Amino acid sequence: MMQFEGSHILSVNQLDLDSINTIFNVATKMTPYALREKRTNVLDGAILGNLFFEPSTRTRVSFGCAFNLLGGHVRETTGMASSSLSKGESLYDTARVLSTYSDVIAMRHPDAYSVKEFAEGSRVPVINGGDGSNEHPTQALLDLFTIKKELSHAGMGIDGMHIAMVGDLKYGRTVHSLSRLLCMHKDIQFTLISPSELAMPDYVIADIENAGHKITITEQLEGNLHQADILYLTRIQEERFPSQEEANKYRGKFRLNHNIYTQHCKSNTVIMHPLPRDSRAQANELDNDLNSHPSLAIFRQADNGLLIRMALFALTLGVENQLEKYECPV
Ligand code: CP
Repeated sequence: MMQFEGSHILSVNQLDLDSINTIFNVATKMTPYALREKRTNVLDGAILGNLFFEPSTRTRVSFGCAFNLLGGHVRETTGMASSSLSKGESLYDTARVLSTYSDVIAMRHPDAYSVKEFAEGSRVPVINGGDGSNEHPTQALLDLFTIKKELSHAGMGIDGMHIAMVGDLKYGRTVHSLSRLLCMHKDIQFTLISPSELAMPDYVIADIENAGHKITITEQLEGNLHQADILYLTRIQEERFPSQEEANKYRGKFRLNHNIYTQHCKSNTVIMHPLPRDSRAQANELDNDLNSHPSLAIFRQADNGLLIRMALFALTLGVENQLEKYECPV
């Protein structure tokens, strides 16, 4: 099992099933603190450096709120232009400096493996909040945590489940990380639905095949959803395309709405999306007409993100067993 205290969280490849269960157990313990039923100051005096060099709503704000809910303080940098990286400073130098000011750092950056490069200069744990099209490990953890909870309502577990992943599987880092976490389980059936130009990278497919799971690769949405327990949609990651025109070729190719869901999915297929969903008319991969559907888990995913990120802070800073000791009145 992984030694969490003092460690960077850069890739899901660092984790095994025991480590994942530890994170999920601590995340579950965080529930009353996230719901404001209890309060703890276990991280009083600690500082999170929250460095987001690429746009974010959920990940950036939930990292910050997770740290605040444990009693810590947050210092934030958003956008490359407000950082001396834009003057040519290296990731290594930036990390050396900022890790003196912080106890833990969360970071998102547009380039693959940049968070790992940054971590090499850091004296404190660094948590990857998304590095280009490579990985988004905390999203994958909250996705897996959500899948586990959602399937448990139907008396199912993760082993033996069927997941359909739809959309931009090439640039969508969340599906890369989630696939690798699912590979650690037994008998998963993957249906990967994308335009061939935006197919899941070969190295992820090799991981799935080497782990012995069944895999179907197709460009057709309709007709390939009827066995899925989980339907995981992604948006076209237009910021990773060479041009807007190139991205526009694929926007709107796969859309899920109430009618398609009712015709092509099981009555309890769980609908997931890492968000943001692209609500512009030409894209609209997940229609608002499903907003009140009980199987729509997209906002429960975002809620679970707070719990997972609280757990990761507690574990990397070694305070996961001291929450009660530092409780204070609500
Ligand atoms: N899911 C996710 O990473 O969302 P944000 O880009 O808003 O952080």
